Amino acid sequence: MPMQALVVDPAAPAALRLAPVPDPEPGPGQVLVDVRHISLNRGEVEFAARRPPGTVHGYDAAGIVVRAADDGTGPAAGTPVAAFGAGAWAQRMAVDADAVSAIPAGVDPAAAAALPMAGLTALRTLRTRSVLGRRVLVTGAAGGVGRFAVQLAALGGAHVVASVGSPGRARGLRELGAGEVVVGLDGVDRPVDLVVDTVGGPQLTAAFALLAPGGDVQHVGWASGEPAAVAPHSLFSLGAARTISTFGDVREPGPDLAVLLGFLAAGRLSAEIGHRAPWTDVADAAAALLDRRIAGKAVLDVEPAAA
Ligand SMILES: NC(=O)c1ccc[n+]([C@@H]2O[C@H](COP(=O)([O-])OP(=O)(O)OC[C@H]3O[C@@H](n4cnc5c(N)ncnc54)[C@H](OP(=O)(O)O)[C@@H]3O)[C@@H](O)[C@H]2O)c1
Repeated sequence: MPMQALVVDPAAPAALRLAPVPDPEPGPGQVLVDVRHISLNRGEVEFAARRPPGTVHGYDAAGIVVRAADDGTGPAAGTPVAAFGAGAWAQRMAVDADAVSAIPAGVDPAAAAALPMAGLTALRTLRTRSVLGRRVLVTGAAGGVGRFAVQLAALGGAHVVASVGSPGRARGLRELGAGEVVVGLDGVDRPVDLVVDTVGGPQLTAAFALLAPGGDVQHVGWASGEPAAVAPHSLFSLGAARTISTFGDVREPGPDLAVLLGFLAAGRLSAEIGHRAPWTDVADAAAALLDRRIAGKAVLDVEPAAA
């Protein structure tokens, strides 16, 4: 029987529908994973309709390796893993062996599925400089990337300023390590050294203006969908340069996935699953994510493939 997958269909709710598709055939150096949980990211949901109809969508999964890589690299068959790669929202996924990591004992596989895209993005943007003793501003702090960035920045020794869109979205952020929680950028009265910006638009330019000399905006995303205007001369800076950096580095994710899984196993990071449902309910989950009703990650449970 062919496997089921969430494929792009521009006419379907959320531009996704469950459909039978051929099993993926692992290429050289790839493992085959029996997927049990997937997670959604705002970008995938927003851009699903732009991909060719029939494409198996999604990047984040957790499951069990059913076939090891032909070159002997990566985990053995039977290993529970978190995986990051195209074609994740399916009962089976072929993925590079260096894009998976074994799930440590005691870690909930659903939590592992929440990590890849959002966790790697938070980890890698924060790794661009030492945040020990620095002030780090996280915009969109209640979201998927944001809740990981707040926790990881605090873990790295930063004073974290968490920015949310409305007071109700502040819930839980202090417990995750935020030293301050602000609505928009109201009340941020001291310069910051690093910004992890997931919102874009006017907040991007306002966040840039808050940078200390030598500070950097790691521009991750544009969840606001709003344009950003830069006033004449506003980019001039005395002293060490202030910068805006793009982010999109998903190369060789396996080792950093292992770092994140290790933090989960040690109880130093929480997966922050704000929505959990069967994958048949993907349209509801996508709508809730776009409506800013989910605090953290949406994780969907995949019905195992028939043997
Ligand atoms: N560059 C990369 O490699 C990369 C990787 C991952 C994600 N991204 C991008 O990063 C962004 C965030 O992704 P995510 O998965 O964390 O999304 P998410 O879970 O939906 O979180 C987005 C957050 O942005 C805030 N937001 C949305 N619209 C806003 C608006 N109009 N004004 C102010 N705040 C707004 C929301 O704040 P409230 O909850 O407070 O309302 C929400 O918490 C997306 O644009 C995504 O495409 C890029």
